[in-house]
This record gives sequence, structure tokens and C-alpha cells, in this order.
Amino acid sequence: MRILAIETSCDDTSSSVVENGNKVLSNIISSQISVHAKYNGVVPELASREHIKNVNIVVEQALKQANISFENFDKEIDYITCTYGPGLAGSLLVGVMTAKTLSCIYKKPLIPINHIEGHIFSAAIENKELKPPFLAVVISGGHTELVIIKDYGKYKFLGGTRDDACGEAFDKAAKILGLPYPGGPIIDKLAEQGNNDAVHFTRPMMKGTWDFSFSGIKTAVLNYSKKVDIKKQNVINDICASFRQAVAETVVTKSVEAAKKYGLKSIALGGGVSCNSLIRNMFKKECKKNKINIFLPSPVFCTDNAAMIAHVAYHKALKKKYVYPNKQVVSIKPSLELENW
Ligand code: KG4
Ligand code: ZN
Repeated sequence: MRILAIETSCDDTSSSVVENGNKVLSNIISSQISVHAKYNGVVPELASREHIKNVNIVVEQALKQANISFENFDKEIDYITCTYGPGLAGSLLVGVMTAKTLSCIYKKPLIPINHIEGHIFSAAIENKELKPPFLAVVISGGHTELVIIKDYGKYKFLGGTRDDACGEAFDKAAKILGLPYPGGPIIDKLAEQGNNDAVHFTRPMMKGTWDFSFSGIKTAVLNYSKKVDIKKQNVINDICASFRQAVAETVVTKSVEAAKKYGLKSIALGGGVSCNSLIRNMFKKECKKNKINIFLPSPVFCTDNAAMIAHVAYHKALKKKYVYPNKQVVSIKPSLELENW
């Protein structure tokens, strides 16, 4: 079964062809970072305009790399899938409309996918051993979620962020320090030269809940940065290292605690922040200590990509959860929550 996927929920335009859920024939990602960097964050209107410019090119490239042309599309592609939420309304619209158009022209069933489910299962693309039940830790620019995965489509939400998402905290801390957007990768890099214990930022453990709160650490970075000379590289490096350490300890400790409490033997990471080198290493170490299997996606599957959407769509197709565009209308859901199916 071959699926053509389109993902445009935020600022990456991506298209992918995946065979039987795991064989990635192509995964093209066109990043808009250079467009948004000067604004220190994603500008929704600019994002949707960029998607309009890029989406056809990206789909064509994904098909080409998979050795599929529009002439043999009908024979080679079985389903079309797209992200329909959560995300930026204008961005989602571009992907959904493109997918619906292709679905109408080629009369292929359309599978609408929740972006969060893509991140939840992104580690399963390369690891066939990752099977439910497991604990999903989604840490991205828009989400910080702990979810028990009982099966594809069967979820129990444990906790999420009460304020800033994990990646958002990295991006905002970087902005305070005068570092470019997106902040996560640059903080991760500079932290390697700094001292993790130079500044003590409180670990917001939110005892008694599985929720997270990162705005306090971000404010602590702001207050601390006013007292020191952030023009000095070693000062910046130390703040980055101490900030990364505080966030990593919080995420890893809570996730491992949740897996133990619910008797889950595996944890899977997803979302852009799961590229973070300290978070990856800390998870490996703590999981080993606690005899928990840890599944980390390759960086290309951590950040937004269409292959993860195709992977979930494959499992939805197996359960016959798809729609024919002429029978039922698929529309965007910018505030979509994780739903069972
Ligand atoms: O999953 P993603 O591509 O988009 C959303 O769905 O939000 O995640 C983007 C986020 C950004 O906040 C970015 O700063 C963060 O992932 N990120 C990182 C790293 N690489 C990307 N955060 C920490 N360390 C990294 N190495
Ligand atoms: Zn994402």
C-alpha cells in the first residue's frame, strides 16, 4: 500500500510517499526558517503564503523521488493523506486543499491525520519493534504532552503544558539571549561549550500532576540575563547549558516516572525538541537504569515531516478510516485535540 502525504501545519511544507507504513520512498521538507527568522517566530500569514508557493513543488519532488509520475499516479498511489489539525489555519488550508484536489482528480480515498499522532508514532517509522502499549512524549514548538498509547487510535492523555510548550520555551529563551530563531538548535549547540551547573534554574516538577510549566524557567532566564553581561560568549554558553539541563531533567524525570507508574516498558519521543542532544542522552541513560526501552526518531522524523503523517495514515487505512472526497467533506481543525478512533 502506497500513501502520498502532505504536511503543512506550521512552517514546513512537506510531502512524502511511504509504502506499507515504514518504507519511506521520499520525504521532502521545504523549511521556511529564513522567512520567519527576522521576526523571531512564525508569522502565520507569511507561512500560508510560503506553503502556497511551495506545496506543488514539494509534492512533485516527493513523487519524482519515489519514481512516480502523474501519468502512473493512479496505479502507484493508493491513498492520499494530509494533516488537518492542530496548527495554523491558513497553513493547514493549503495542505488540506491540495490533498483534496489530488484525491478528487485521481479518485483516491483521503485520510485526514492529527499532527500530534504523527509525532507520537514518528519513532515507529524506523523501529518496527515499537508497538503499543508505550508512553509517548511529544515535545515540540507547539506541544508538550505525555500520552499512554494503548494502540493506534486508542490514547489516554496524561498531561500537557500549562503555559509555554517545551520548544517554545527554547525559542523564547533564545530570543531573550539575542540568539536567532529557532532557539532550540542554537541553545543545544552553545550549551555544549557551557557549564550545566553555572546557574541554578528551578526544575518545575508540578508534583501531583503530569502537567508541565516552562514559563517560570523562561522568566528566570530573563531575570538572570539582566544581571550579567550577555555579550560575553562564556556567559551565554553557561546560561544555555543550565537552561537546557533544567528543561531536560524536568522532561526526562516526569516521563520516566509516568512510564513506571503506569507499568509501561517503552517510551517513544517525538517533536522537534526530541532532536536535543542532552534530552536524547538523558532518556537513554535513565531508561536503561529503569529497564525501559527508549525509541528516538532520527532528527529528520523529529521535526515536522510528511512521512510521520503517512505512517499513521497507513494504520488508519488498515482500519478503513478514510473518506471519499465526494462523499464527505474534510475540513481543517486548527484546535484539534488528540481523539480516539
Ligand atoms: O516539531 P516541530 O518541528 O514543530 C512543531 O510542531 O512545533 O518543532 C519545532 C521546535 C522549535 O521550537 C525548535 O526550537 C525545537 O523544536 N527544536 C529543538 C531542537 N531542534 C529543534 N529544541 C531543543 N533542542 C534542539 N536540538
Ligand atoms: Zn510538529
